[in-house]
Amino acid sequence: MLLVRLLIIAVVVVAAPVSSPRDTFKGPSDTIARQVAGLPSSFKWESTGILVGPPNDSRKLAALKDPSIVYYEGKYHVFVSTVDSGGYNLAYLSFTDFDEAKDAPLYYLDQSAIGTGYRAAPQVFYFEPQKLWYLVFQNGNAGYSTNKNISDPTGWSSIKNFYSSMPSIISEHIGDGYWLDMWVICDAEECHLFSSDDMGQLYRSSTSIADFPNGMSNTVIALSEPNRFDLFEASNVYYISSGTYLLLVECIGSDDARYFRSWTSNAITGPWKSLADSEANPFARSNNVVFSGEVWTESISHGEVVRTNVDQTMTISPCKLRFMYQGLDPAASGDYNSLPWKLGLLTQTNSAC
Ligand SMILES: *[C@@H]1O[C@H](CO)[C@@H](O)[C@H](O)[C@H]1NC(C)=O
Ligand SMILES: *[C@@H]1O[C@H](CO)[C@@H](O)[C@H](O)[C@H]1NC(C)=O
Repeated sequence: MLLVRLLIIAVVVVAAPVSSPRDTFKGPSDTIARQVAGLPSSFKWESTGILVGPPNDSRKLAALKDPSIVYYEGKYHVFVSTVDSGGYNLAYLSFTDFDEAKDAPLYYLDQSAIGTGYRAAPQVFYFEPQKLWYLVFQNGNAGYSTNKNISDPTGWSSIKNFYSSMPSIISEHIGDGYWLDMWVICDAEECHLFSSDDMGQLYRSSTSIADFPNGMSNTVIALSEPNRFDLFEASNVYYISSGTYLLLVECIGSDDARYFRSWTSNAITGPWKSLADSEANPFARSNNVVFSGEVWTESISHGEVVRTNVDQTMTISPCKLRFMYQGLDPAASGDYNSLPWKLGLLTQTNSAC
């Protein structure tokens, strides 16, 4: 019976002209009929309060930012950017439950062979073919470090870069922007590296699985927007299931707050189709997030889906998504690099599965 109803609705949706009764469909059947690979066409979230912020130590950090998170061997492993008056670097923390995050010791990764200097916006994953963890980040280039043991933050290698220099298609478009927020995802044949320029371009380079991490080339513009704030930075690309990839990109809304838009595609190479990609129907924005306590942030900024599959395919389940993000006291002001970003967690409340 349900199946029959779904089929009828599906036929109506496909056949419907632009202003059709489809817009008057309400309720779960409508959501199910239009969903892509288990993803809804609109999202609802609940947020925690502040989970973790800068510790009170001699580093005097202004912010913890840009979380990358995997759940592996009974623990959440989180890599973050640290911001202090000297600039950006990276840190690691781990905990078994989110309510323990605030007490987790922060290991400053400049103490590992990653070293001091500008490193930011980490992405962690396990590259199965080499049995190695990779930490990918921006360092002026797209840098990476490797480690056999994600639980041992002293074990990260010295940095190598994916590129000999900025790909020419990026230098031709970047203008006054910044080259940042690198993201790697591999399918069965190739690994792809996405990056942004804060100017409305999302770039993608590729290499073969066999050559990875070498050979990143053939850089193209994967998606672009004439208004740079509509496609700003912090892209995530995930594999949902056969035929569906999910793209998230952080944008700046008409209220100046950060939020995420979303697209899907049947290939990492695109083309990308709108999923929830507007301020009115965002992937995650203040207007589709309910806070369990005080509304401690109006920005839903740089973050990642909590991954329990840790490998290079960036596979996630579309069910009950969790998204760790950075937020900000709405009253905070001042220089962007001194803003007190802290971390929170969204849990999807309208999952169809
Ligand atoms: C931070 O640490 C210093 C030195 O231990 C201490 O004097 C101060 O009260 C602490 N501040 C907070 C907010 O905990
Ligand atoms: C990984 O590192 C942790 C922390 O140093 C250590 O306790 C554990 O034994 C290491 N695992 C392996 C397989 O070396």
